[in-house]
Amino acid sequence: MCGIAGYIGPRNAVEVVYDQLKRLEYRGYDSAGVAYLNGGGTIHVVKRAGKLGELGKVLWDGDGTPESGGGPGGEGIDVPHLAIAHSRWATHGGPTDENAHPHFDRYGDVALIHNGIIENYLDLKGELAAAGHSFESETDTEVAAHVIGQEYAKGVPLEEAVRQAVRRMRGAFAFVAFSKRERDKFVAARNASPLIVGLGQGENMVASDIPALIPYTREVVAVEDDRIAVLERDGVRLMDLEGKPVPLESFHVDWDVEAAEKGGYEHFMLKEIHEQPDVIRGALAGRIDDKGRVRLDQVFGDHVWQDIDRVNIIACGTAYHAGLMGKFLFERLLQLPTDVFFSSEFRYGDPILSPKSLAVFVSQSGETLDSLAALRLCKQRRIRTLGVVNVVGSSIARECDRTVFTQAGPEISVASTKAYTAQCLVLMLLALHIAQVKETPGVRIDEAVADLRAFAEKAEVCLRLEDEVKALAERFKGAPLVFFLGRNADAHVAREGALKLKEIAYIPTQESPAGEMKHGPLALVEQGTLAIFGATDADVREKTVSNVREVQARGGFVVAVTTEGDDSLDGVAEAVLKVPASRSAYLNALLSVLPMQLFAYYVAKAKGCEIDQPRNLAKSVTVE
Ligand code: AGP
Ligand code: GLU
Repeated sequence: MCGIAGYIGPRNAVEVVYDQLKRLEYRGYDSAGVAYLNGGGTIHVVKRAGKLGELGKVLWDGDGTPESGGGPGGEGIDVPHLAIAHSRWATHGGPTDENAHPHFDRYGDVALIHNGIIENYLDLKGELAAAGHSFESETDTEVAAHVIGQEYAKGVPLEEAVRQAVRRMRGAFAFVAFSKRERDKFVAARNASPLIVGLGQGENMVASDIPALIPYTREVVAVEDDRIAVLERDGVRLMDLEGKPVPLESFHVDWDVEAAEKGGYEHFMLKEIHEQPDVIRGALAGRIDDKGRVRLDQVFGDHVWQDIDRVNIIACGTAYHAGLMGKFLFERLLQLPTDVFFSSEFRYGDPILSPKSLAVFVSQSGETLDSLAALRLCKQRRIRTLGVVNVVGSSIARECDRTVFTQAGPEISVASTKAYTAQCLVLMLLALHIAQVKETPGVRIDEAVADLRAFAEKAEVCLRLEDEVKALAERFKGAPLVFFLGRNADAHVAREGALKLKEIAYIPTQESPAGEMKHGPLALVEQGTLAIFGATDADVREKTVSNVREVQARGGFVVAVTTEGDDSLDGVAEAVLKVPASRSAYLNALLSVLPMQLFAYYVAKAKGCEIDQPRNLAKSVTVE
């Protein structure tokens, strides 16, 4: 999820990889490190928690810039020509010096950096520990380094050791490694996490994203999944996991740096909307085992779930809307009474808290002040607390008794999209975990897991609605007011769709359960008023269709979001968007947020709004 860089060639390799990390800073990170091979053939590793500048100070013991001298390639010191570097977005173990990358194998022969998550790292760690390995960090990456070292100890070339090692691993990874025994190359491997090779003249390099390569070369290769790359000064070789050579297919990048940071998208928000299939995979990574059971290791012991009699979900904004989805699921699936509170209301509302209740804090940043204050209130009342948080090492993550991370990667755009989807999925994993522990009657874990496993692909199909949505956005960019309506979980998603449009297109919205319209909001409908209906829930679809007709009878224009296979709104609503169906009403509703996110984005774009940094708003509200 974060930044990797590697270089071999005539330049000062540490200066190159440090510069490449600086060009990847926009992706967000919590620690960084460099490993390089010096003239004497030893591997030097420098790594620090915190920002890149902390690393620079140590590397060049000056003002953190290469020209300060004294560091790698400084006055009288060998110029290193092979180096790798990493900016970490912690998933396993907090942002500390020890957990920062690079990591070594058991023998100190191989230095490794890694983006992603090794799902079976605990099993591998157990096998290694049984064989006498010990570890200095909490990371899954160090385990991967030991697995590579174990293969390397058999006397094979490094690329062969990496190839054999990745065959033993499950999960997402972009690895870069080198060895002090083979100083004329480094090796990279990819599965699911981005890895780009940069082809130069007498030099070659890798990075997790194109912006880091552009100053050095515009000839790049986007490495596909299940590939191993061997990079030497005068050439790059690619192979598959069977060891068979694969041709290099390079392309010329003519993007400018700013466009490259957004992966070619015009805004981070659009990039993050399109990242959601991978974010779905990331949120589930390592949390469904081979037997199709949910496996959440970071939560309370089983006895606790037998004891909890109520759940209070506390959050703000989009995270609050994810909390509403959690309520829907905890009550429908588990019959567990659940309330959802705005953090700002909770902390001053003198809440009545059952000693057996669980307080769940949903937060992307983990730094929202109102949520943090509410958390501290719950801890004063000795209430069990659980975080559903994206940023590892954040205050809420640290102060909750337990935290399940959403693993969505850095979310840059102020308007939250991919984090919301990841939050809703983690809440579903939590509900299924509780159902497993309590053996809740009627809960088909196997069906729910099958739906989850298929969800990322459904999201990919759903994003193909982009052009249809863009046309609707163009048509309604001048709307003075937009309704977002739905029933059950669709009503909760409607709130999130409304917030997106408010936040980035500055259009007033009226969101409510569809059945509530006739109790007041219907008065706002006039000729041409746009109403977006979430209509994915088959159980209440007939009622929803009636609500659609109520709005149309007053001149409203209805866009309905329903599931493929449902034709109840064909010829009824003025426009119908269909998302791929799951058995789960929860996932059907959740998927319908994607066209709503796209609608908000394209309306804002058509209006010429700022989008990533909307007026008056901040990405993390750390004030009251
Ligand atoms: C959502 O698009 C907004 N950025 C905002 O409502 C946000 O969800 C809210 O401030 C909560 O932030 P958190 O998830 O980081 O706690
Ligand atoms: N899972 C690894 C860790 O927690 C890598 C995280 C990343 O992608 O930066 O160290």
